[in-house]
Amino acid sequence: MDKIKKELIMMLNQALELEHAARIQYLAHAEMIQGLDAEPVIERLKEIASDEQKHEGIFRELIGNYLGGAPSMGLAETHSAQKTSKILEVNLKGEKDAIDFYKQIYRKVVANKEALPYEFETLEHQIRHVIIDEQEHVTELCLLLGR
Ligand SMILES: [Fe+2]
Ligand SMILES: [Fe+2]
Repeated sequence: MDKIKKELIMMLNQALELEHAARIQYLAHAEMIQGLDAEPVIERLKEIASDEQKHEGIFRELIGNYLGGAPSMGLAETHSAQKTSKILEVNLKGEKDAIDFYKQIYRKVVANKEALPYEFETLEHQIRHVIIDEQEHVTELCLLLGR
């Protein structure tokens, strides 16, 4: 297999593990939110978790079907928090870290366009799509934090 495909499989598997961890973290945190304004925050965290689940599917398909790799079943590190503001902060940081990493993958794909004649547009489109979703999550979390 090409070196570039191997590298992309490795990076996309790290991304998949970040998505596994993010989904579980959002769902666990959603059960911990309490207080007067809890309901809309809980709803939003659950909605974001379902986006992360879609991202898992996208990354699995890119790894397995398009690049011929094996999708990881692993889980990146998760972070606990108690208070609502702390929960939102922890997840905001996770979203920003994910965006930074997905942009590295995106740049690698674009830089290797010629070596990916039957995969490039799909990889470019799907990774870009996930980055746009994560930017939406950042915006939503900032809104909940009152920023
Ligand atoms: Fe995601
Ligand atoms: Fe996200």
